[in-house]
Amino acid sequence: MQEKNIEFRYTTANIRELDVQDQELINNAKISLQTAYAPYSGFMVGASVLLENGEIINGSNQENVAYPSGLCAERVAIFYAGAKFPNVKIKAIAVSVFSKDFDISDIVSPCGACRQVMAEYEENQGVSIKVILHSPNDQVFILNQVKDLLPFMFKSPRLKKY
Ligand code: THU
Repeated sequence: MQEKNIEFRYTTANIRELDVQDQELINNAKISLQTAYAPYSGFMVGASVLLENGEIINGSNQENVAYPSGLCAERVAIFYAGAKFPNVKIKAIAVSVFSKDFDISDIVSPCGACRQVMAEYEENQGVSIKVILHSPNDQVFILNQVKDLLPFMFKSPRLKKY
């Protein structure tokens, strides 16, 4: 029997301390959250993906009256990036949030389904995707790779047929 330990490093900062590229990505996410369709939760999320070719793809959460049919901002942005630029690597994703009902001072971290989706894109491209989480009080968490958010991600190469 052997007990093991997983550690990872992440950075906390104020938005002002970040380089211009990271600030720009966060600003894209902040603007994108205004396009959220969130009439049921009032919780608005924007996600912006920076690609290797310099393109920025923006997304926001899109809800539906049949509640589970909606999609988180992260997956809207990542899937759109995959559809529009299928062979271009993703460098970073920034996520920003706003609630109509309450103050959010904590960092909002992606849900499990979004982690799994982002982790597979990261795995396929063989290059880390930086994750930048921004709260409305301008505090930021930066993770170096999606896998830090999802140790033991589900993967099964044998399920891949094509
Ligand atoms: N949501 C996101 O878009 N991203 C997250 O990381 C967490 C949750 C959305 C889903 C739903 O529209 C609303 O926020 C409340 O859960």
